[in-house]
Amino acid sequence: MKLDVNLGSRSYPVFVDDNGNLPDILANTFPNRRFALVTNTTLSRLYDGILSNWKARLDFLKIEIEDGERYKNLETWGKVLDSLLLSGLDRSVVIIAFGGGVVGDITGFAAACFLRGVDYVQVPTTLLAMVDSSVGGKTGIDHHSGKNRIGAFHQPRMVWISTSFLKTLPERDFLSGYGEVFKYAFIGGRNMFSFILENHEKIIGREPGFLLQAITNSIRIKAEVVSDDEHEKTGRRALLNFGHTFAHALETFFNYEHVLHGEAVLWGIACAIEMGKRVKTIPDSSLREYDRIMQLLPRVNLPAKPDAERLCELMLSDKKTSNGRIRFVLPASPGEAVICDDTGKETAQAVIRYVVEGYAETQI
Ligand SMILES: NC(=O)c1ccc[n+]([C@@H]2O[C@H](COP(=O)([O-])OP(=O)(O)OC[C@H]3O[C@@H](n4cnc5c(N)ncnc54)[C@H](O)[C@@H]3O)[C@@H](O)[C@H]2O)c1
Repeated sequence: MKLDVNLGSRSYPVFVDDNGNLPDILANTFPNRRFALVTNTTLSRLYDGILSNWKARLDFLKIEIEDGERYKNLETWGKVLDSLLLSGLDRSVVIIAFGGGVVGDITGFAAACFLRGVDYVQVPTTLLAMVDSSVGGKTGIDHHSGKNRIGAFHQPRMVWISTSFLKTLPERDFLSGYGEVFKYAFIGGRNMFSFILENHEKIIGREPGFLLQAITNSIRIKAEVVSDDEHEKTGRRALLNFGHTFAHALETFFNYEHVLHGEAVLWGIACAIEMGKRVKTIPDSSLREYDRIMQLLPRVNLPAKPDAERLCELMLSDKKTSNGRIRFVLPASPGEAVICDDTGKETAQAVIRYVVEGYAETQI
């Protein structure tokens, strides 16, 4: 199947479980070009056979980075650039990001900066990267002052997804990716809300047809939003941050350790829904449906109880804060969300306390 991200001359295809094989598609799409492939140590080991086959056809420079969010930093990004520069590649290179969101974000940012910007292709291997980070052109790295603080908008030339890679994805990472799928239920229209409500068990059970549909629905929604508001100027793209204001604060609170990004998003979704109830962005007539979907929301293990006041401070220092107010994306009618930045710090703290007590499972 082929989906499209429509951005005029920078439009690109997203192939999902397409019949063709990747090296042939790349060799045909980018004739007479050289290739580099960035991956991490885990994927390099797991997919040694596939990577060797691809290398035989494309003869790429292979760049291996360490595995983990803590390596999504300036140092790793610099090492990728060192490898590209020292190998004598020029602007005709096409860089392939083979991995999850961390590999994709670092590689995209390296592609944005190498010789002032070169082509790259996303080959996502986690559910999260398939439904979210590989599409849309946000690239970047973390800084000790906050997540994704350094980066660039740089669209890939192609996204190539094979759901077969999900067979080796550990359950915890799969559920983390499901956090981003679940998010689309709240911003992707009534049909996506109903699809998740009705098929949640089958998707998390990885039933192939339902999983594929969840992935393609998610990409369609993301592609449509990105096509409409590529650089987050009109507010439409900000809707993709549903649950993320709380999530980013939680990740920073735990120093990017112990809690995965999608797990933080699941926790953030619980907060956003509770906030939506309190500030009444959710119409009374929809409350029951929100209660039903909340029952499905996978619970997240937190290593300790986060402090509500500190989380609010962190949310205020988020790069998306608007004029000293915390900007939230809150649920409205099922499948729709609204941006709200005047809820008050006290409400946010009360919501966090409520969710900490009632939703997350704390292992201290
Ligand atoms: N650019 C964006 O728009 C955007 C959107 C959402 C999230 N993100 C970023 O994405 C990152 C999280 O991505 P992630 O959840 O993919 O994490 P990740 O890249 O760290 O991957 C999770 C783990 O799964 C392993 N893995 C990957 N594919 C595998 C496979 N097929 N089989 C077995 N193991 C596999 C990885 O080695 C890693 O240990 C965060 O840094 C987040 O900020 C970016």
